[in-house]
Amino acid sequence: MSPKAVEHAIADRRPIEISPRVHWIGALDPDIRTFDVILKTANGTSYNAYVVRGSEGVAIVDTVKEEFADDFFARLEAVATYDEIRAIVINHLEPDHTGALPELMQRAPQARLYISFQAQLMLKALLKRENLEFTPVDTGDRVDLGDRSLEFLHTPYLHWPDTQCTYLREEEILFSGDVFGCHFCDPRLFNDTCGDFRFSFEYYYAHIMRPFREYVLRALALIEPLPLQVIAPAHGPILRDRPTAYVGRYRELAAPRLKREIFPGEKTLLIFYISSYGNTARMAEAIYAAAQEIEGVRASLYDLTGGETNSFADLLEEADGLVLGSPTINGDAVKPIWDLLSSLTVIDMKGKLGAAFGSFGWSGEAVRMIEDRLRGLKLRVPLQGVRLKLIPTPEEIEECRQFGRSLGEELMGRRANRVIDMSELLSSNS
Ligand code: FEO
Repeated sequence: MSPKAVEHAIADRRPIEISPRVHWIGALDPDIRTFDVILKTANGTSYNAYVVRGSEGVAIVDTVKEEFADDFFARLEAVATYDEIRAIVINHLEPDHTGALPELMQRAPQARLYISFQAQLMLKALLKRENLEFTPVDTGDRVDLGDRSLEFLHTPYLHWPDTQCTYLREEEILFSGDVFGCHFCDPRLFNDTCGDFRFSFEYYYAHIMRPFREYVLRALALIEPLPLQVIAPAHGPILRDRPTAYVGRYRELAAPRLKREIFPGEKTLLIFYISSYGNTARMAEAIYAAAQEIEGVRASLYDLTGGETNSFADLLEEADGLVLGSPTINGDAVKPIWDLLSSLTVIDMKGKLGAAFGSFGWSGEAVRMIEDRLRGLKLRVPLQGVRLKLIPTPEEIEECRQFGRSLGEELMGRRANRVIDMSELLSSNS
């Protein structure tokens, strides 16, 4: 079909042929402007669903968001009857792919539902039905449709715990769910005929997949050996032209980018601060200088004045430790610090060393608030942060230096356990 013919067929609610046995039966949503509250979708999106026809039955792979169910069923009815459907595969239970599922299960009650093992509890919560029947599947499990078959790949956390991919081996088509997808709405549907979606592809990876880099690498280990003619994702263009290039791009995006700058055995400690009267800055410099003295520590110091925080994402992703310094203003840490913390939600920070410090005038809540947020982001915060009232004395600067040394030793795994005195605990709570 020509791109124009595809466009017309979509406007007429007809299915689109990917191969004689595989059709797209999804829906376009050109008007959506934000997705999952945080994602910008300047170009809209699509909800891709597919029909696979075997000699002994039909399978449906994914459905669409509920408000687009009419489009989905109209397209489905043009290529299959409900009594032919033997299998319904849901690669991912988020409502943008399961909105039409309850109705589909009613219309094709004989069809068996296949989901990942991790999806079982979610499915029950989603459908809230008694006597729900389904088959949980794992890597290597297959559904036989006669001369076509579907194989499952366990690819959790891309980007929910339940996510899986489904491979049609006889046609070398991978139904990849959100993986390799993007929010890009184009009625020409295929990557070799639609507009330039590189920005959307990278943006989607950065916001959806990046926090799960380790899981991306595990999924790639399953996907890369597969012969691929087509990748059919759940959002955005169907990748029929050089599909392996997109697999390669995921490999590049998931690979560490800065590691070669650091020697084996070294650990990186990033210290970010902002200062209103120079007091938190003096603390930062003392912590930085002392941390650097610890063998193996590569410390860096950044002043967040100016407010730009997103550009630190690569650095943060590969750092071993993160220290944040903020004054307390109106009982809170200052905005650039919260912006930096907010940017960490798209990065895997789990298990990294975290710490906070800051000068204050009369209440000094910022340090504890930052520490709580770091813990919430799954960093470990083993050292209580330094809080100093107004201008640091020489003794207090020495306290900052000791803090910096302890952070460095903690980072290098050389810090000795210490016995905490009760009076110390009482004074820290006062
Ligand atoms: Fe497209 Fe995670 O739903």
